[in-house]
Amino acid sequence: MKLSSRVVNLKAEAAFIVLEKAKMVEKKGVDVVHLEIGEPDFDTPQHIKEAGIEALRRGETHYTPTPGIPELREAIVEHLKEIYGIDYDWRNNIAVTIGAKQAIVAAMLAILNEGDEVIYPNPGYPAYSSAAEYAGAKTVPYKLVLEDNFSIKPDKLAEMITPKTKIVVLNSPNNPCGSTMSSEEVRGVVELAEDHGFYILSDEIYRPILFDGLKHQSPLNYASDIDKVILVDGFSKRYAMTGWRIGYLAVSKEIYPYIVKLLNIMTSCPASFVQHAAISALRGPQEPVYQMVREYEKRRNAVVEELSKIDGIRFTKPSGAFYAFIDVSRVFEKDGRTSEQFVLDLIERYGVAFLHGTAMGSYGEGYIRMCFANSIENIRKGIRRLGKAISDALA
Ligand SMILES: Cc1ncc(COP(=O)(O)O)c(C=O)c1O
Repeated sequence: MKLSSRVVNLKAEAAFIVLEKAKMVEKKGVDVVHLEIGEPDFDTPQHIKEAGIEALRRGETHYTPTPGIPELREAIVEHLKEIYGIDYDWRNNIAVTIGAKQAIVAAMLAILNEGDEVIYPNPGYPAYSSAAEYAGAKTVPYKLVLEDNFSIKPDKLAEMITPKTKIVVLNSPNNPCGSTMSSEEVRGVVELAEDHGFYILSDEIYRPILFDGLKHQSPLNYASDIDKVILVDGFSKRYAMTGWRIGYLAVSKEIYPYIVKLLNIMTSCPASFVQHAAISALRGPQEPVYQMVREYEKRRNAVVEELSKIDGIRFTKPSGAFYAFIDVSRVFEKDGRTSEQFVLDLIERYGVAFLHGTAMGSYGEGYIRMCFANSIENIRKGIRRLGKAISDALA
C-alpha cells in the first residue's frame, strides 16, 4: 500500500521522544531532572480556570463559529489595539485556532504553492519547516548562530531572498535559543518584506516573556502594510495554558476566508468552554503573567550562574522565552558523539534530560536546549549534572 509521500516524509516534533526516554529511565529508579520539554511548570491562573469551569456549567458545550466566538475575537482585537495600536476587525482578520501550532500550519497551507520558498530560522520551532514542506514549498533555513546572538541579520537575510520567497518566519522571543530580535533587526526585515513583497509570519507566542527590561519588537510595530504580516499568537506559554490548546491568527482579509476554510475542514471550531477561558485570560488581571516572567528571570539568572562554572561550553545569556541553547560541540569533537546520542547518555548516565539541538533543525547539531521553566533547585541540580558529564568527557 502506498501512503501519502507528503505524510510519510513529514517530520514531527522530537521533544516528546526524549521525554518518553527519560520516563523509561525513571521507571528503572533513576532520578532524572527534566529540562527537555518546553512548557511552563506553573499552573494556569485560577481566574482563567474558573472561567472555563463556569462556561461548562452554563452549558457552553456546543459548536461555535469556525474562527471562534465573536466575544473572544473582540477581546483579541482589543488586546492587539492595546499593544500595537492597530485596528483589526474581528470579523475579517481574527481566527482562533487549536494552539499556535494550528495557526502556523493553517497559514502555511493557505498561502503556499509548490515551488514557493519559505525562509525559516534553523534551529527553530519544527512546525514551520514541516508545514511548509507539507504544502509543497521549498524550505530555506536561515542559520541562527551564537556569534549573532541567535538573531536574524537583515543583510544576511537579503542574500537569501529570491523572487520565489513567499514567507519569512520570525520568532522572537525565540525557541530554542532564548534570543530576541532588536528593533533594527526587525525593522530591517520589514524593509526587505516591503521591497520584495513577501509575507512575514511573526510567531509571538513568547511575547511578554522578556528579561532585563527589554521591550518586545514585532514587525507590526514597523510595517506600513500590516496585510503582509501574519501574526501567530497563543495562550500556552504566557498564561501557562499548554493543555487547553488555544491560539489565534491575525491576517489580512484577503487570506482570512481561506484560513477559515482550512480550519473548518480540520477542526470545525476550537473547544467552546476553552474560548471562554481565553477571554478571561485576555481581559482578566495580567499580574499572574508578570509574576511568572519575574520568576523566569530569576531562573535565567541561576542558569547563567551555573553554566558559567562549566569549562568547554558556550552559550549566550537568554533574553526571552525560557530556553538556553548551549554549545557542547567540544565534547563531540573529542568523542564523535552527536547531540542526540549525548542527550540520551545524559539521561541514562547522569540523570538529566535536555533536548538535542537537532530536534530543532540540522543547524542545532553541537547544541543542546535547556528549558528553565523549572525550579531553581532543579535547574542547579540539572546543570551540575551536565557539568559532570562535560568534565568526564573532556578529561
Ligand atoms: C515558537 C513556538 N511556536 C508555537 C508553539 C506552539 O504552541 P501551542 O500550539 O501550544 O500554542 C510553540 C510550542 O512550543 C513554540 O515554541
